[in-house]
Amino acid sequence: MSVLRNLLLAGSENPWLREQATRQRFIRRAVSRFMPGESFDEALEAAQRLRRQGMSTILTILGENVSDRAEALTEVEHYDDVLARLDGSGLDAEISVKLTHLGLDLDLDFTCENVEKIARLAVARNTRLWIDMEGSAYTDQTIEVYRRVKARVPNLGIALQAYLRRTVADLEALLPSGPAVRVVKGAYREPDAIAFPRMEDTCRSYLALCERLLSPEARKAGAWLAVATHDPRMLGGVRDLARRQSVPNDAFEFALLYGIRRDQQLELVRAGHRVRVLISYGTHWFPWYMRRLAERPANLWFVARSAFAG
Ligand code: FDA
Repeated sequence: MSVLRNLLLAGSENPWLREQATRQRFIRRAVSRFMPGESFDEALEAAQRLRRQGMSTILTILGENVSDRAEALTEVEHYDDVLARLDGSGLDAEISVKLTHLGLDLDLDFTCENVEKIARLAVARNTRLWIDMEGSAYTDQTIEVYRRVKARVPNLGIALQAYLRRTVADLEALLPSGPAVRVVKGAYREPDAIAFPRMEDTCRSYLALCERLLSPEARKAGAWLAVATHDPRMLGGVRDLARRQSVPNDAFEFALLYGIRRDQQLELVRAGHRVRVLISYGTHWFPWYMRRLAERPANLWFVARSAFAG
């Protein structure tokens, strides 16, 4: 892992830096490249624009590591409103949540209840709820919550991180339940003992996970694959795999982040693939934005340009 990436990821956990950064106008301007705005209305407008370009969406309000139950319950209510507002909007929009935003640092049972409430609201509107995967301290609990709620509500998906050495085994254990899996490379700072330090190994793992999810056995069990990456080698690799295994385009989807590789997003649509764009909104963008910088430290130039433009 590069020194700069490490520094940015360490910075993402620093409360002092968060306090300073969120006050700076030029940083807020730079952030706008990756989110249409802090409000849900702005996210909804962006979703409508993407729909006109042939893309569906995933919506998520930013936030993590809440320290009291009331905050978690506010998020549940927020998604109740969101799902109500999606009704009649004509949008094919799913929801994605972080479990530490719903109380995972407080109580696992309470988190399960919150996830189940949102999942039931999503099912009633015929859409899916995704569970993001956070740092490795939460992997076991995240999978546990997924398992428990998935046993009661079907439309639940989970993100799995290709950089973790354990993920192949995690996927095998989940497969019989026909899981919806969003395969991501992984965005957190992890020790080499548990995560591949070399990108090559993460990429190999990424394609192996996708291949397994596209296998006849997994598809027969009801598994669904969301290929979440902007990496042209991963995108091309999965498209080749699908062709070789005669998997039709509508049997899996690609998922990309708002504002990143729009060219790629449109190219996938033109090629007849299902494409979902994850739109984040809300005021708690600091750790999330630092992870975006860490993924591509060249983004720091946008921050610098924004400072000079201001
Ligand atoms: P990689 O980082 O190699 O990037 C490939 C190319 O994409 C770059 O060369 C660049 O052109 C472009 N690019 C990538 N990131 C960029 C950025 N920040 N700014 C500008 N350009 C960029 N992680 C996690 O741990 N848990 C999760 O739940 C999720 N959820 C999730 C959902 C969705 C829909 C996506 C797309 C990603 C996630 N992630 C995630 C993040 C994921 O783990 C990973 O950090 C990023 O996708 C970056 O990795 P890539 O696979 O895009 O490849």
